[in-house]
Amino acid sequence: MKNCIVAQSGGPTSVINASAMGVFKANEELHYFDNVYAGINGIEGILNENIINLSHIDSEVINRLIYTPSSGLGSCRYKLKTYEDNKEEYIKLFEIFKKHEIDTFFYIGGNDSMDTVHKLSNYAKEHNLPVKFFGVPKTIDNDLPVMDHTPGFGSAAKFISTIALENKLDASVYTAKNVFVIEAMGRDTGWLAASSCIATLNGEPVVDLIYLPEVAFDEAKFLKDVAKKLEEKNSVIVVVSEGIRTADGTFLGEMGGTGLDKFGHAQLGGVCSYIKNVITENGVCKKVRAIELSTMQRCAMHFASQTDIDEAFNCGFAALKYSAEGESGYMIGIKRVSNAPYKSETFAVHTSKVANSIKYFPKEWINEEGNNVTKEAYEYTLPLIMGEPKIQYENGLPKYAFITK
Ligand code: F6P
Repeated sequence: MKNCIVAQSGGPTSVINASAMGVFKANEELHYFDNVYAGINGIEGILNENIINLSHIDSEVINRLIYTPSSGLGSCRYKLKTYEDNKEEYIKLFEIFKKHEIDTFFYIGGNDSMDTVHKLSNYAKEHNLPVKFFGVPKTIDNDLPVMDHTPGFGSAAKFISTIALENKLDASVYTAKNVFVIEAMGRDTGWLAASSCIATLNGEPVVDLIYLPEVAFDEAKFLKDVAKKLEEKNSVIVVVSEGIRTADGTFLGEMGGTGLDKFGHAQLGGVCSYIKNVITENGVCKKVRAIELSTMQRCAMHFASQTDIDEAFNCGFAALKYSAEGESGYMIGIKRVSNAPYKSETFAVHTSKVANSIKYFPKEWINEEGNNVTKEAYEYTLPLIMGEPKIQYENGLPKYAFITK
């Protein structure tokens, strides 16, 4: 018996299930493994032997999962220590792999999860253990190095831009001046906030000001920017990244400095409300709305990008295919082959190049004022949002799959 196991880790996306199902469907076609198991709640769940057999799941549920947002297999924010720091954990994990005759492990996640793949792959090689490890990328943050973009980003970008566009219309109804502050996710990087540059109305950009973590936030300069825009127009749309920080590195959206996840990352969110207060308290504008997109931007499958769904699926599919011949410790990445017409392909990259490292939004794509992005950002993002999925509806709502764990 030769089995594989797939698990999901980190924050969900609209398309992370498409990647898991890509692994599963590839095996249906290629028959490399006798069973495709799923670890529920990532590595944390596997350590608790919370494992199901995907091969036993109804094909209708499997097909529906491709069009279901969030991590259908559950997730975790679990920092795997080094072997030296927690030998028991490694020994236990490989005992569980042996018991379930696991030959290959596919981990779908971001840069922290690729660190897990890297550590486990090295450990197996050093101890001559017959288990191979492969990474499948995901994150709406789009901050994985080496690859062009990550699965999850295109759908989030499509959602954020649509919200900006629709709110622009809502903001334009009164004669009184107003400011809408929309907050996008992105702990370390501004890719998501910057993606709002693709929203246009009558050929003009909808978003007036964009603030990214890559540029130190200066409150006085920000107030001047908003006041200047309000002189030119009645409604001003501002998009901020949850990760914006002052020159000394303090996050504007940090929750009292105590909210850390298991990776030690600050739990962000709510920066738009802070900024709303900054605008009103300084008398720049009386009517200000704060719109925190929060989890909505990563689970809005009803408005996902078909391009993103396809690429997420392809990454999972390619990982399984690659596992037959490829060396353990690699992740599948996406390469942009051409922009117009848009074409991408997958490739393999060693997880050491991805683990714990961050791809920042390019400095040369930020305008001189540091309050917007250039046309390169527009051209980069636009192809990634193309295509709308044909979601099935029931009682007027999307019909999603849910695996009872
Ligand atoms: O996966 C990345 C991300 O989307 C970040 O932008 C955000 O800071 C984080 O997840 C928060 O997710 P959660 O609250 O689920 O840990």
